[in-house]
Amino acid sequence: MEAKGKVTLKYEGEKTLEMPVYGGTLGPDVFDIRQLYAKTGMFTYDPGFMSTAACQSKITFIDGDQGILLYRGYPIEQLGVVGALSAFYHDSLDINNPEHREISAFRLIAKLPTIVAMAYKYNMGQPFMYPRNDLGYTANFMRMMFGVPAEEYQVNDVLVRALDRIFILHADHEQNASTSTVRLAGSLGANPFACIASGIACLWGPAHGGANEAALQMLIDLQKAGGMAKIGEFIKQVKDKNSNVKLMGFGHRVYKNYDPRAKLMQETTREVLAAVGAENDPLLPLAMALEKIALEDDYFVSRKLYPNVDFYSGIVQRALGIPTSMFTCIFALARTVGWIAQWNEMISDPEQKIGRPRQLYTGPTKRDVVPIAGRR
Ligand code: ACO
Repeated sequence: MEAKGKVTLKYEGEKTLEMPVYGGTLGPDVFDIRQLYAKTGMFTYDPGFMSTAACQSKITFIDGDQGILLYRGYPIEQLGVVGALSAFYHDSLDINNPEHREISAFRLIAKLPTIVAMAYKYNMGQPFMYPRNDLGYTANFMRMMFGVPAEEYQVNDVLVRALDRIFILHADHEQNASTSTVRLAGSLGANPFACIASGIACLWGPAHGGANEAALQMLIDLQKAGGMAKIGEFIKQVKDKNSNVKLMGFGHRVYKNYDPRAKLMQETTREVLAAVGAENDPLLPLAMALEKIALEDDYFVSRKLYPNVDFYSGIVQRALGIPTSMFTCIFALARTVGWIAQWNEMISDPEQKIGRPRQLYTGPTKRDVVPIAGRR
């Protein structure tokens, strides 16, 4: 990559260090600090990677301030009606061989729907349904999950399209926590199946992969507690720092504007509720009222907290007949496409190194062990 400029760091009085500046096609420039420690003896301090780019990527771009999401340059709004994924079965594995990596990618993308559907069937005590190669990716998955005859799933079926859209909206999201985990594991040479497993493990918990489940539960609880009449009280609890209550499905590390996926998800929620005859589901108006109040409240406005993709996705998945316990699995299934693309990009990138963050040590300085008899 060719430098477009430089940044000069002045430290310890008159010492200086020049660092090259690189520009991407979109988004902020970066300055290259790889020589920083060797030249100055200092690390950068950046908990949570708030200002650190850890790789180059050509896959996904987010402008969090504007609420823009592009997959390989294509706006998410244009992709949410198109898209097809195919299933292939192969058997080669050498992470340094690009062809083998592609085969692994196909295999992972193809196997995940079958694994998720089997996990569901096992949990329900029902017989497994095997995939059919004549069906599309999403129709196949719905058949394996729900056992509905394949003929009922036409490509233009509203439910297939809705699930397709959920998959597309979750397919990739730049260097988020689970993707960074996949890249970190992959940087050490772990095989792609192990790397994807590490990404799946990272989805556990309500801050990332479990947020849609938590958001739906929040709406159900609020509805039970009195619904619309209790929104004010609930918002008060959310704003009270001692309550530990969060407005689930709100806020994002990168988006400081409306998450474009949330808009599409709200649209899909309406379509699906109408298609399954659940137009009167009280959770949608409740979520919309909650959103309206939150977007006018100074607590949320001043912190730039907007709905994220998970605010509506629980309602729509429930309407599709997907049990809450499977929501994170659906996320994992969809995100496998992004994880494997990011893993493949990382392995092919000659600049990538083993991922190994450093730290600011604040513990005791060197000291002697006190014999047990002398301890208080
Ligand atoms: N409800 C109430 N307050 C919130 C919320 C929320 N959902 N999200 C953030 N805040 C507050 C924080 O308490 C903090 O307030 P403070 O400045 O007074 O201390 C401020 O907004 C900034 O929040 P941080 O926690 O610093 O933001 P961070 O970028 O670390 O966290 C996260 C982002 C984890 C998504 C957070 O907004 C959250 O927990 N949201 C709810 C869970 C959720 O919906 N996760 C899904 C994310 S999308 C995805 O993974 C597919």
